Amino acid sequence: MYRLVGLLCYFATVAARAQLIPQPANMNAEDLAHGKRVFQAQCSPCHGIDGTGGSGANLAVPTLKHAANDAALFDVIQGGIAGTGMPYSFLGDREIWLLVAYVRSLGRAAVENLPGDAAKGRALFNSQGCPACHMLNGIGGVVGPDLSEVGARRSSQRLRQCLVDPGSALPDGFLMVRAVRNDGSVVEGMRVNEDSFSIQLRDTVNRFYSLRKQQMQTLDYEKGATPMPGYRDKLSATELDNLVAYLASLRGKQ
Ligand code: HEC
Ligand code: HEC
Repeated sequence: MYRLVGLLCYFATVAARAQLIPQPANMNAEDLAHGKRVFQAQCSPCHGIDGTGGSGANLAVPTLKHAANDAALFDVIQGGIAGTGMPYSFLGDREIWLLVAYVRSLGRAAVENLPGDAAKGRALFNSQGCPACHMLNGIGGVVGPDLSEVGARRSSQRLRQCLVDPGSALPDGFLMVRAVRNDGSVVEGMRVNEDSFSIQLRDTVNRFYSLRKQQMQTLDYEKGATPMPGYRDKLSATELDNLVAYLASLRGKQ
């Protein structure tokens, strides 16, 4: 008899617990703050304190490669990703759902009230030659990252920093390298790939190089270097506000 009561109590608590776990869509600010604390303790060593990446992937993006929906994101956090550095975790279901909500919130940079005029910023974007290097909804250059969703991935503060001091806000994994080949010729470009024997680069006119390390005299990693020009002295304070407002409005397909 006692065992039966015990069993019933057990099922009642399990059911109650399941109901108590709010799904990401119903979570409030307190749940998100809790998720953030768990994230900073468990995930930030690899994914960065703000989730924009480190040895682990950048999670502050609108779409995650391994997690098309919240259930898939739950599975990734619980089970890890086999064959990669992403470990499984021993967290309870509630903590994991809090993390799901928090990770999703990272990919939706909050819509901010900005001082600039986005329409004027758009005109500047074209007149300042940004499309030469940046793709926007399928049109533009490929030297820099696609900016179609940049407003959802980056805060306005970070966007401003990219414009005034690009070298201080490089995207995860971005690296310029300079190689001097045995014949004395120099190749400089952005690293695409590298292993012990070879390195692949793309230069700023989009030529692709695959170089064997044996066949070069020097290989320098130019930390903080970027082909992106700084706009601190080229734009007025108002123009910068306008351009930031325009970039912040680029949020891809909603
Ligand atoms: C030991 C380092 C490490 C820790 C700790 C870690 N991760 Fe990861 N995580 C990675 C790596 C590396 C990848 C990239 C796997 C790949 O190659 O695709 C990854 C990938 C992911 C992805 C998939 C990204 C995508 O684009 O689909 C998610 C989501 C994720 N991690 C969430 C978390 C969360 C939440 C935590 C904390 C509970 C966490 N990770 C802890 C290393 C880590
Ligand atoms: C000569 C090519 C070039 C031009 C011109 C250029 N950029 Fe860039 N941009 C890059 C490269 C390369 C990066 C990636 C490295 C970095 O952040 O500096 C980048 C990064 C960025 C980023 C950060 C993207 C991210 O995902 O974090 C933003 C925002 C940006 N550029 C906006 C602009 C705007 C706006 C203009 C015009 C006013 C512009 N760029 C002009 C090459 C360029």
